[in-house]
Amino acid sequence: MTGHGGNVFLASDETGIPVNEMLDFSASINPLGVPESVSAVIRENIGLLVHYPEPFADSISRDLSQQLGVPAQSLVCGNGSTELIYLLVRALRPRRVLMPGPTFSEYERACHLNDGTSCTRFDLSPQGGFAIDPGQFVAAMAGCDMAFLCNPNNPTGRLLERKTVLDLVRAAERAGCLLVVDEAFIDFTPDQSLVRDVEGNSHLIVLRSLTKFYALSGLRIGYGIFPDRVVQQVSAHKEPWTVNTLAQMAAATAIRDRGYQERTMEVIFEEKEYLEQGFQDIGIAFFPSSTNYYLLRISRGNEVAASLRKRGILVRDCRNFPGLDESYIRVAVRSRNENNRLLKELGDLCAR
Ligand SMILES: Cc1ncc(COP(=O)(O)O)c(C=O)c1O
Repeated sequence: MTGHGGNVFLASDETGIPVNEMLDFSASINPLGVPESVSAVIRENIGLLVHYPEPFADSISRDLSQQLGVPAQSLVCGNGSTELIYLLVRALRPRRVLMPGPTFSEYERACHLNDGTSCTRFDLSPQGGFAIDPGQFVAAMAGCDMAFLCNPNNPTGRLLERKTVLDLVRAAERAGCLLVVDEAFIDFTPDQSLVRDVEGNSHLIVLRSLTKFYALSGLRIGYGIFPDRVVQQVSAHKEPWTVNTLAQMAAATAIRDRGYQERTMEVIFEEKEYLEQGFQDIGIAFFPSSTNYYLLRISRGNEVAASLRKRGILVRDCRNFPGLDESYIRVAVRSRNENNRLLKELGDLCAR
């Protein structure tokens, strides 16, 4: 079992099924694929690969800051938001870090790699639908100097509303704890984002990714908005050239592609309704989701995942998420044909 979803290359090696014939429901990537506008820009600019990229991606940082309405100096781009998770832990050297369980595993790994940083888990329970109780989270922040909050949470799909997260930000400030809100999957509820709230909140960091909504996972680009207090410290620890030239150009193009953004929202909302009905029809329990994936509760989910894999369908076996076990899998929202194939195979396997 691998640490994350999306390893189509390993699955292809193991099953002999070519990568481009795999149906990947294990990473939650936009089923529309790379925007055509981005493919064109990559083709046109391939010759620029002979040059180094801008070392700290300043042009695209300025561009993103204008689009988002945040100060340019608060924005740092990374090779996916994953780079920024590791960078901020390395630069800020927190002593005790709070994080929910289950959640994205790289927060814990980044902390473990840093001498002197320990993690405290805030357990979420299936009985409560994996909801985060804000009062209990505030109490748990006491004694922590950093807390991660994945919003919407991966793998549960559960969103904490902006006004609730803002209450947590104020509590974090009182507790002297830096709250890192990872919004890798917030594009489907953009009005809930806190990107514009970093200015004026000294204890809030927001991370965003362009690799899921714009299907640029293999190209790698993400960004973070940091308060004045810490942005220089974080930038001082950053290696140059981590965001390649084509990723910078792709990002500048993708964020302007309104047609792609609108089509994505339509497709995902339509397919979510379709999948939810499909899950109900075949008697599979799912947790309500604010984003483009679902956590499913399914008996012997690990065996179901293994059987699907042999048929070229990858889903996320959730056993290695703290707090989850073999009865959970996570599936992305894909195109109608792909979703039909998933529902059919799930129906067959679960009816046995
Ligand atoms: C919650 C969350 N944050 C961040 C990331 C990393 O995204 P990126 O591709 O931008 O590094 C992922 C990837 O799966 C994720 O699930």
